Amino acid sequence: MAISFPNRQLLIDGEWKEPIKKKRIPIINPATEEIIGDIPAATAEDVELAVEAARKAFTRNNGRDWSRASGAYRAKYLRAIASKIMERKSELSKLEALDSGKPLDETAWDMDDVAGCFEYYADLAEALDGKQKAPICVPLETFKSHVLKEPLGVVGLITPWNYPLLMATWKVAPALAAGCTAILKPSELASVTCLELGEVCREVGLPPGVLNIVTGLGPEAGAPLASHPHVDKIAFTGSTATGSTIMSAAAQSVKPISLELGGKSPILVFDDVELDKAAEWTLFGCFWTNGQICSATSRLLVHENIAKEFQEKLASWAKNIKVSDPLEEGCRLGPVVSEGQYVKVMNFISKAKSEGATILCGGTRPQHLKKGFYIEPTIITDVDTSMQIWREEVFGPVLCVKTFRTEEDAIELANDSRYGLGGAVLSKDLERCERVSKALQAGIVWVNCSQPCFCQAPWGGTKRSGFGRELGEWGLDNYLSVKQVTEYISSDPWGWYQSPSKL
Ligand code: NAI
Ligand code: MG
Repeated sequence: MAISFPNRQLLIDGEWKEPIKKKRIPIINPATEEIIGDIPAATAEDVELAVEAARKAFTRNNGRDWSRASGAYRAKYLRAIASKIMERKSELSKLEALDSGKPLDETAWDMDDVAGCFEYYADLAEALDGKQKAPICVPLETFKSHVLKEPLGVVGLITPWNYPLLMATWKVAPALAAGCTAILKPSELASVTCLELGEVCREVGLPPGVLNIVTGLGPEAGAPLASHPHVDKIAFTGSTATGSTIMSAAAQSVKPISLELGGKSPILVFDDVELDKAAEWTLFGCFWTNGQICSATSRLLVHENIAKEFQEKLASWAKNIKVSDPLEEGCRLGPVVSEGQYVKVMNFISKAKSEGATILCGGTRPQHLKKGFYIEPTIITDVDTSMQIWREEVFGPVLCVKTFRTEEDAIELANDSRYGLGGAVLSKDLERCERVSKALQAGIVWVNCSQPCFCQAPWGGTKRSGFGRELGEWGLDNYLSVKQVTEYISSDPWGWYQSPSKL
C-alpha cells in the first residue's frame, strides 16, 4: 500500500486548527534523509487555546461533562479508540516506521500495545465506578468516613520520539479513563501517529476538548504547557535534562508531575547461563528500538569465566542483525531518529575510543547503506567505570561490557550509576536472581530476559531516572485525586464549647 502523510493541523476543541503563527516543521525520513511532509508547530498562543478547551471540557456543566460522567461512559470511547487503531494498524505501523526509523515489525507490535493499553484502561475506568465511596474504618463510632477518587483536572502530557504513539497512549489512556481532560505535546521528531490519534478521536466522537494535541518544539509548545497555571498536572517522558527543566517550571504553580527519564541500565550475566539464550536477550535488551529505549540494558556485566566466549558470541550475533530500511522485510535495526541523534551517538563512540576502549564490533555506518542515519550494532569492551560510555545514556545501538568475579562485585558495579530505571539478571540459579532483583536500585527488573513490558505492570524509575509510576493501577492513580469525606453521625452535639443559652 502506498503511504501518504496526512496533512494535519493542531487538534483543539475537537477541530483541526492551523497554528496561529502558521509555522510548520518538516518531517524527515531518517532512512532516506528526505523531507516527506510536515507537522504544525504550536506556540504559546495555541497552547492557551488548547488549555481553555480542555478546561471547558472538564467542567462543562451539561450533566455529561467528562469529569463527572461514569467510568463506564468514558470506557466506551476508550474501547472505540482501540478498535479504530486496530482497523488502521497496517497504515499506522507504516507511518510510525517512516517517521521514527523503527523496524516495521516493531511498530506493528507497538500498535497492538496501543490498542491493548486503551482496552486495559477502559476496564479500569469501569472498575472505578465500583470503587467510589470506599469506607474507611475510623476509631470513633460517632463518625463515618469514605473516600472519593476524582479526576485530577486538566493534564499536560509531554512525550518522546522512541515509541511515539505508545508513550502517548501510556498517558492519554489512563488520563481519560480517570476523567481528566488532556493536552498532548508529542516530540517534534515523531508526531505523525499522535496526530492520527487525534483523527481517531474525532471519528469515534470523543467530546470536543477532552483530548487536544499540540505538536511543536519543546521550548515553544512544551514549555508553555509545563508552566501553565491552569494545567493541573504534567506527565513527562524524555531526557533527564528536560525533566529537570519541567520540574522547575511546574514548581511555580506547585503542579504535581510524574517523570520518566533516562537510564543506563545494567544486565548481569552469570556463568551458569545457556550462552545462546543469554546472548539473544542481551542483544535484544540493547538493540531493540534501534537502541533508543530509556530502559535499554546497555551496560553488560558478564562473569569473567564466560566473558571471552560470551563476547565472541555477541559479536557474531550482532554482525548477523539485519540493518536496513525499516520497511524492508525482516529489518531488525533501522536508522536512529534524526541527524542530531546520529551525531550524538557517533560522538559517544569516538570519545570511548579516545579514552582507550575497544570497539569489538560496529562503531560505524553500515557499508551497504549510503544514506540515512544508520549505525551498526556496536559492542565496546575494555571499558573503565569512569568512562563517559559507561556512565551516560547513549540512546543508540551501543552496548558496553565489563566483567565481574563475584555476585557482590556485580551488584556494586550495577548500582554505581546516577540512574535507576531498569536492570536484568540472567542465571539458572533462581535464588540468586531473587537476591539480585532485591539488590538492584531500579524500578523494573527482568529475570532471564530484558525489556518485555506489559500494560498491567508498573513502569518507572528511581534516582535520576525519575519518579512516579505509569501503567497498571499506578498509572490510573497518577490522574486521580483522593478526597476524604467524613460525616458526623451522632445525634448528640459535639460538646466541646458550651452553648451560651445554657449560661
Ligand atoms: P527531550 O527530553 O528534550 O524531549 C522529550 C519531549 O520534551 C519532547 O516532546 C520535547 O519537545 C519536549 N521538550 C523539550 N524541551 C522542553 C521544555 N523546555 N519544556 C517542555 N517540553 C520540552 O529529548 P530529545 O531532545 O528528543 O532527546 C535527547 C536525549 O534525551 C536523547 O538522546 C536521549 O538520551 C534522551 N531521551 C530519553 C527518552 C526516554 O524515554 N527516557 C526519550 C527521548 C529522549
Ligand atoms: Mg520523524
